[in-house]
Amino acid sequence: MEKKIVFSGAQPSGSLTIGNYLGAIKNWVELQDEYDCYYSIVDLHAITVPQVPKDLRSNTLKQLAIYIACGIDPEKSTLFIQSHVPAHTELTWVLNTISYMGQLSRMTQYKEKSRKSEENLNAGLFTYPVLMAADILLYQTDLVPVGEDQKQHLELARDLAIRFNNKYSETFKVPEPLIKEFGARIMSLQDPEAKMSKSDSDENGYILILDDKDTIRRKIKRAVTDSLGVIAYNDEQLGIKNLLDMYSVFSGESIEEIVNRYEGKGYGILKEDLAEVVIEGLSPIQRKYDELSKNKDYLEKIYKSGAEKAEYQAMKTLRKVYRKVGFIPR
Ligand code: AMP
Ligand code: TRP
Repeated sequence: MEKKIVFSGAQPSGSLTIGNYLGAIKNWVELQDEYDCYYSIVDLHAITVPQVPKDLRSNTLKQLAIYIACGIDPEKSTLFIQSHVPAHTELTWVLNTISYMGQLSRMTQYKEKSRKSEENLNAGLFTYPVLMAADILLYQTDLVPVGEDQKQHLELARDLAIRFNNKYSETFKVPEPLIKEFGARIMSLQDPEAKMSKSDSDENGYILILDDKDTIRRKIKRAVTDSLGVIAYNDEQLGIKNLLDMYSVFSGESIEEIVNRYEGKGYGILKEDLAEVVIEGLSPIQRKYDELSKNKDYLEKIYKSGAEKAEYQAMKTLRKVYRKVGFIPR
C-alpha cells in the first residue's frame, strides 16, 4: 500500500525558535516512518516581509541544517527549498482566481501583519495563505503538521481544494491538519499572552534552537510569571503554564507528574530545572548542527535532490490543474 503524504514548512525569516521545534519540527520527525514526508523551507513566503538578501540566503541554508539536526532524515523525507520548485508559484496563480477577497481579508495573520506595516502594505501578505494552500495541494497531501497559529490557513487550503474540485472535477486531496494538544502554541517568555516568535524585537521573548547554555538559562530565569507563587497549570497563570508546557514536551513527562513534583516549591527552582531540561533537549541538535554547517557540499546535495523529487510530484498535479482549467498543453 502507498504511504500517505505529509507536507509542512517553515519560513527562513530568522533563526528557528523552540516554538517552531515543539509546535512543528519535533512532530515532523515522528511522522517520517509512517508517511511519505515533504518538508520545505518556504523562502517565497519569507519575502512577504522585508528581508536582507544575504541574510535570507544564509538563513535558508542554516534552516536546512537545523531540520536535519533535529532528526529529519533526508533518506526518508524530501527536503527542499520552495523557490526551487516553480510549480508552487504557478499553482498559486490559479488558486488566486478562485480565492475570495473577503475570506483572505479575514485571515488573522494578515490582519495582524497589515496592522504592523501601515505604509505600503504589500499584496504578497494578502495572498500568502493561497501560496501556502498551493504548497500543500500540489503534493496531494493527507496530513499537515503545524502549530496552532496555522489552523485558519489550513482551513482555507481545504476550502480551496473543495472549491476547485467542485468547479472542475476531483483534482486535489483535501488535507487534514495535525495540531498537537501540547506544544502547539508556545508563548513569549516576556509576554505569555503573545506567541513566541523569531521576529520578536525583544530577544528575551524567545529561545532559539541554537541558543547556548548560558543564554537559555538567562532567558528562562527572566521569564515573566505572576505573583501567586503556586506552581499550577491554569489560564490565570499563563507564564507558569507556558513553562510547564515546555517542560512537558521536552521531557516527555505529563503536566500532572511535573506539577505534583514541584508542589510547594518556588518558581526559581522550576525555572532552573526547566533550563537544564531545555539544554539537554537541544544539545544533541546543536552538536549535529555544528557538524552539518561545516559541510556545505552535503547540504547542497540534499536540497538539489530534494527539489528534483518534489518537482516531479508537483508537476503531476500542476499538469492536471492546467488541463482542467482549459490551458493547451505545450
Ligand atoms: P514559521 O516560523 O511562522 O514559518 O512557523 C513554522 C511552524 O512553526 C508552523 O507550523 C508554526 O505553526 C509553528 N510555530 C511557530 N511559532 C510557534 C509557537 N510559538 N508555538 C508553536 N508552534 C509554532
Ligand atoms: N505559513 C506557515 C507559517 O508561517 C509556513 C508554511 C508555508 C507552511 N507553507 C506551508 C506550513 C505549508 C505548512 C504547510 O508557519
